[in-house]
Amino acid sequence: MGKQGLAVITGASGGIGAAIATQLSQAGWRCLLLGRDENKLQLLQRTLGGEHQYLALDLTLPGSVQRVMMHAASLGGAALLVNCAGCNEMRSFQSEQLEQIQRQMTVNLVVPMLLTHHLLPQLSSVKGTVVNVGSAFGYIGYPYQSVYCASKFGLRGFSEALSRELDGQVAVKYLAPRATDTSINSEDVRALNTALGNKMDTPEEVAHSFMRLLNSKKRRLVVGFPEKLFARVNGLLPELVDNAIIKQLKTIKNYISCQLNTKESSS
Ligand SMILES: NC(=O)c1ccc[n+]([C@@H]2O[C@H](COP(=O)([O-])OP(=O)(O)OC[C@H]3O[C@@H](n4cnc5c(N)ncnc54)[C@H](OP(=O)(O)O)[C@@H]3O)[C@@H](O)[C@H]2O)c1
Repeated sequence: MGKQGLAVITGASGGIGAAIATQLSQAGWRCLLLGRDENKLQLLQRTLGGEHQYLALDLTLPGSVQRVMMHAASLGGAALLVNCAGCNEMRSFQSEQLEQIQRQMTVNLVVPMLLTHHLLPQLSSVKGTVVNVGSAFGYIGYPYQSVYCASKFGLRGFSEALSRELDGQVAVKYLAPRATDTSINSEDVRALNTALGNKMDTPEEVAHSFMRLLNSKKRRLVVGFPEKLFARVNGLLPELVDNAIIKQLKTIKNYISCQLNTKESSS
């Protein structure tokens, strides 16, 4: 085991991160599992086996990124960084609190950039790989997801620029899942997806796409159809997608109205 080197995986206590860690371990990677929930990390580490390690920490706190870098160095250095930790709070932009905007931008964009920066010397020394887990909402601006979209569009821009900058030195890739069955999605978001007929993948399906991207020369992969097509059309003819999404606004508002009502009555 461990013939592929060390994979540092953020969000390993979550749905997609745990599935990616499982498939990486099956493919011979040694994993350093990161997250905040120590119980979940410990359970996963026990399931995967003794050569894997975990580190429970909040990546937004000062010193956390440095701790990850030192821990990875003590294990021989990272050959793969998977930036999978993320958070998503679907609400109107008007109702966002400053702290909520900062948290989403930090977890989804700033932390992946800082971790990549700190681990780059280790990754470069073995011509390693960074995979940033973005979203279909990193291609398609979606109502009531403005902060999340800003973070995931940003992560995609960062990935693309760095991938071109480090060509031949470190591979930098962007994986864009669509709706996936994990706890990041509230009951309202799940109900909205059902109402709109959006398919929800399993974390294992996303991890399978992750392995395909990792083992290919591709720099980016959007999971699922028609999201793959919408991402391209939105890039070429955003006016067409404007109209299709604006038609959904009434339905979207129905499903977040509960959240709005709760917020309004508590403020
Ligand atoms: N599920 C979807 O529909 C979907 C669709 C497209 C893209 N994605 C992306 O896929 C990635 C994984 O999400 P998921 O669906 O697996 O969600 P999830 O089950 O909620 O997992 C989120 C992970 O991020 C970690 N995390 C959040 N804030 C953190 C912080 N401050 N410090 C350290 N770790 C933190 C969580 O750790 P703890 O649980 O230990 O706190 C957890 O491991 C995210 O980047 C998400 O944006 C998800």
